[in-house]
Amino acid sequence: MTVTQDARLVVLLSGRGTNYAALQAAANDWLGARIAGIISDRPTAPALDLAHRHGTDSVCVDRGQHPDRTTFEASLAAAIDGFESSHIVLAGFMRVLSADFVRRYHGKMINIHPSLLPRYRGLHTHQRALDAGDAEHGASVHFVTPELDGGPVISQVRMPVLPRDDAASLSERLLALEHRLLPSTMALMLQSLVELRDGELYVENKKLDHPLQLGSDLDDRGRLTERV
Ligand code: GAR
Repeated sequence: MTVTQDARLVVLLSGRGTNYAALQAAANDWLGARIAGIISDRPTAPALDLAHRHGTDSVCVDRGQHPDRTTFEASLAAAIDGFESSHIVLAGFMRVLSADFVRRYHGKMINIHPSLLPRYRGLHTHQRALDAGDAEHGASVHFVTPELDGGPVISQVRMPVLPRDDAASLSERLLALEHRLLPSTMALMLQSLVELRDGELYVENKKLDHPLQLGSDLDDRGRLTERV
């Protein structure tokens, strides 16, 4: 796989960090990039211990220690830039970012969200899928733009909703799929196969008219199939 020279990822998160762990495992093995560091906005995030065990640098930019969003985001940007990152991954980072902050990292920052966007932006996505009687649920990886969970969707993974599912079972089953979708999508980005131009997504220089589906358009290592 031909990847960007010296690709360095920074992962922003708020909690457990299982998606970070999946990226770390891929980085240790086949991804062709290193995780330069993780940044948590919460000092109690279990992911901070996880990073320590992996030998990965971590920084906490505690929202509670900043009087307002502007100063918090200035510290966050300084932490990101301190890692000299080429790409920024939001993996369970539970804060809304300002338009100015997002623009600063335009085209370099992606987010994983537990729904088939544009359905269910925001919180409680599993329960909302159940309440709507959806036959299918899934996760999406998208470029981050100023609109919350609203940036162009690069890739998705889908799964059926089963008759006995509740929000917890949906979340657990989907998380295992998220752990495949995120490294695969990151691999696509590292190969510069996906680009954001004037707000539109291009894959191998062709405009993308639907998100790439893991399993049919995209394999677990970010390789595109003939279908695309
Ligand atoms: C994941 O399910 C991720 O999709 C979701 O938070 C969870 C983080 O889990 N993200 C969002 O809801 C963002 N809007 P993790 O900390 O174990 O990776």
